Amino acid sequence: MSNQNWFHVCSVQDMPHNGGVCVKYGEHQIALYYFTHRNEWYASQNLCPHKQQMALSRGMLGSQQGEPKVACPFHKKTFSLKDGHCLNDEACSSIKVYDVRVKGGEVYIDVKDMDQQAMVHAHRQETVSPNI
Ligand code: FES
Repeated sequence: MSNQNWFHVCSVQDMPHNGGVCVKYGEHQIALYYFTHRNEWYASQNLCPHKQQMALSRGMLGSQQGEPKVACPFHKKTFSLKDGHCLNDEACSSIKVYDVRVKGGEVYIDVKDMDQQAMVHAHRQETVSPNI
């Protein structure tokens, strides 16, 4: 039996290409990323652990030896979107990553680890430039 909890975020056409948006889930902020040309989706916490900035959804997307990554717009700490570890600073904490599912043109994030009692809504934040 699965304990996943899929939270509906938006439609595929609502997403910027090769960019991210900030999704609010209760008091949580999740960064959702769409690597358009690879047709891959990732999600992580929006909070950068370096200086506690809510910024990763505005980060630059890229890849390092095939591994999808996001670079924080503040000081360029770079995180793997596969497992959340920091790729360019061993002293920096990892970020949480979440599963994403696309079904019938709709995008869902697995929020099983989050508080599900709070009010839920999603909204778009500014988009970022492709850097892949
Ligand atoms: S706040 Fe993100 S790299 Fe410094």
